[in-house]
Amino acid sequence: MGYNLNSDLNPSEDAVLYEDRDHRVIYLGSKGSSSGSVDVLSYLIVNGNEGIIVDPGGYHLFPKMVYNISKYIKLKDIKYIYFCHQDPDVCGSLPMWKDVCPQAKIVIGELWVRFLPHFGVENIEESAYPIPSDGGTINLGKAPIEVIPAHYMHSPNHFNLYDPISKFLFSGDIGIALGEFKYLIVKDWIEHLDYIYPPHRILMTSNKVTRTWAERIKNLEIKAILPQHGAIIPESFISYFIKFMENLKCGIDLVK
Ligand SMILES: [Fe+2]
Ligand SMILES: [Fe+2]
Repeated sequence: MGYNLNSDLNPSEDAVLYEDRDHRVIYLGSKGSSSGSVDVLSYLIVNGNEGIIVDPGGYHLFPKMVYNISKYIKLKDIKYIYFCHQDPDVCGSLPMWKDVCPQAKIVIGELWVRFLPHFGVENIEESAYPIPSDGGTINLGKAPIEVIPAHYMHSPNHFNLYDPISKFLFSGDIGIALGEFKYLIVKDWIEHLDYIYPPHRILMTSNKVTRTWAERIKNLEIKAILPQHGAIIPESFISYFIKFMENLKCGIDLVK
């Protein structure tokens, strides 16, 4: 019960990160599962007997994700499959998920709904749950999961999820880290900066958008930031990460 954010968690094994009587947040053991491609971190939130998969990842991850998710919830009880934006490392498994969880709503920014037919989704009206640009709330069991806009970071229609029960922020491509490191939970901020700076410098659109995001999430009580690549940022480093985003020069700031 409570939090499990131990620095010795194994990135290639699933683990319950938060648990109380009705609510669980699970890391799906997805890092390092597809050699030659960027690492992916995927998650599952379960409240009562309803689940939401958060960023299920690409094509090759699908068998492992089905296996690991089935340890925690029946596939028929997956109510939503959430995609923070349209990239293949987020959505590549979408056609298979649609087949094994036909009841689940595909939650994705409204701008990307028109691309769903290219993943083989036929009945858009029935299958899709378009997120309005301003975000909103997804009701999972008794948990109101907040959807927070994070546009142009890097996708023009990109979102974060905030779980008010675990107080985890699922940040998609924000807070990501790329490189040859093996930990799941950040333990040395200075060392980690070497891995988070390069992708943010290239992918984030400009300091104006990183500041807007920092301003938006500053007043939330956050226990950890759970990005879609790299490593989970625990509470002790969140203020450092917010400062990093406030001061970041990136994207078009660097165009000469
Ligand atoms: Fe992306
Ligand atoms: Fe990504």
